[in-house]
Amino acid sequence: MKSTKKKLIVANWKMNPENSTKAHQLFMGIKQTASKLSKVQTIIAPPFVYLTGLSELYRGHRILFAGQDMFWEKKGSFTGEVSSSMLKDSGAECVIIGHSERRALGESNEEINKKVLAATGAGLTIILCIGESDRDHKNGTHLAFLTKQLESALMGVVKGKLSKIVIAYEPIWAIGKSKEDAMNGDELHETVLFIKKVIAKNFGKNFALKVPILYGGSVEKGNTKALLTEGMVDGLLVGHASLSASEFNEILRIAQEIA
Ligand code: PGA
Repeated sequence: MKSTKKKLIVANWKMNPENSTKAHQLFMGIKQTASKLSKVQTIIAPPFVYLTGLSELYRGHRILFAGQDMFWEKKGSFTGEVSSSMLKDSGAECVIIGHSERRALGESNEEINKKVLAATGAGLTIILCIGESDRDHKNGTHLAFLTKQLESALMGVVKGKLSKIVIAYEPIWAIGKSKEDAMNGDELHETVLFIKKVIAKNFGKNFALKVPILYGGSVEKGNTKALLTEGMVDGLLVGHASLSASEFNEILRIAQEIA
């Protein structure tokens, strides 16, 4: 059965491309397709420095912009950090928080929680990343690990703000490889159900039913359909495959077909 909800496809450009001319070209290549798709919500997360320039190139709602991170304080002496109001001023309506590549640089569950609370306060939509390591996956401790990440990140978020949360499940062992190394649809579906169970227990059934859950980790055009249908996710967080407009547009078109 086709769902009535739009599929959420997020492009996480990470620290790419290497200059604003290439960022502009990549965006224009994606915009052509993304702006036509009625059943897909495309979200582009470029490096901070490209946000303003890119967001000025598009005025509709089918493409939204996201920061790849933010700091929890509103302003002040925090060298190198970017605040929620700076993100909004640059045209972002969303922000990725807790990506595993930031956690690997030392970001703690407590810091992620502070960022989530600050972002909800600012009215940004949060794409909260969670995901276990290879070791947890092999040891069978991944469910406890995911529970801790979810509970700590969302601690203190008031009911009225929950509608601003999107969960991106990204198993670390599947990130940055190729589609053969991504999670398979059945295993993904099991994990999605588990995440919904943890959310229902902590925040109520209503939120668990509504919260969009995305998958990330070696999404390519070749596994998009299986991940969306067998995995039963509401969308995808795409890294390396979002750096080619033709590959990413194909992912968007497949999502449009399925939605
Ligand atoms: P990948 O990255 O698609 O290159 O695996 C996904 C991510 O890290 O968000």
